[in-house]
Amino acid sequence: MSDPAATLAVYGAPPLALADVPAGAVQLSPLVPGSTAQETLADASLDEIIMLAPPGTVERRYAIAQALRALRPDGRLRVMAPKDRGGARLAGDLTGLGASFGETARRHHRICQVARPADLSAVAAAIAEGAPRLDPDLGLWTQPGVFSWDRIDRGTALLIEGLPPLAGKGADLGCGLGLLAHGVLASKDVTDLALVDIDRRAIELVRRNVDDPRVAAHWADLRGVEPALADLNFVVMNPPFHDAGAEDRALGAVFLRRAAGMLRKGGVCWMVANRHLPYEKTLAEHFSQVTPRGEGAGYKVYEARK
Ligand SMILES: C[S@@+](CC[C@H](N)C(=O)[O-])C[C@H]1O[C@@H](n2cnc3c(N)ncnc32)[C@H](O)[C@@H]1O
Repeated sequence: MSDPAATLAVYGAPPLALADVPAGAVQLSPLVPGSTAQETLADASLDEIIMLAPPGTVERRYAIAQALRALRPDGRLRVMAPKDRGGARLAGDLTGLGASFGETARRHHRICQVARPADLSAVAAAIAEGAPRLDPDLGLWTQPGVFSWDRIDRGTALLIEGLPPLAGKGADLGCGLGLLAHGVLASKDVTDLALVDIDRRAIELVRRNVDDPRVAAHWADLRGVEPALADLNFVVMNPPFHDAGAEDRALGAVFLRRAAGMLRKGGVCWMVANRHLPYEKTLAEHFSQVTPRGEGAGYKVYEARK
């Protein structure tokens, strides 16, 4: 942990009405750049963890198991989740982990107060189940919870199919496991490729998946100002349209604005998006020329020139 004296940690952003997280709590969510990785916490080292549990089943059990492992024997975990995003399954998860707990419901959330189990064998099994692994079908390192961790997203596949050989300096915004990066790096004329993602797990995986001296990986939230990339020849992206499980169309617009800001004049952005998302107006605001380059399986591909 960054602060060895800290004994309180938080995972994600629990609603203020449900948890008053003291300042100084160590953040553990992989979706917060700069946070501490749960895996690095010493066994039995924390007094209290407050967690807004992630929605994916294997990811949630992994995060809860890591929290229980890191708690002192008399420590307490308070874990919550919206009922329709994992909350209804919390009790089953905790029983499966061998933990005793009390459960309440408030503001559409289930909230559990959990004690560390004395027998950690089920905790160890959940940690093994949710850990990074090499997927033989994808041929990539992956981990439950990362975007499209066990299959190739159809939008990504459509974009890779349509990509021409690119050249010069570029970026892959929201790189995930690195599937687009593999497509881009097939061109020998690419000299530099910045890979950016908000998810620490994706960044750690992509460093294993894309072993190429032309690549630099950045753990960053593109809603901020990092990484400060400029004068690029190209950007590729399959932008997210969900944040914390809820549809957030503004995120795609942020990605387009950042892409335009990183490109040199005449540089191109290749983007795939769900067909139902209205990006045309944002594309027209930031790019001088926008050309549809393909459509299929509910997705559309654009080439946008600055
Ligand atoms: C639709 S996925 C695409 C992943 C990968 N490029 C692919 O095609 O398989 C979008 C990616 O953007 C990342 N992401 C979401 N919000 C972000 C943000 N604010 N800043 C940076 N990356 C973000 C997600 O973690 C996810 O990996």
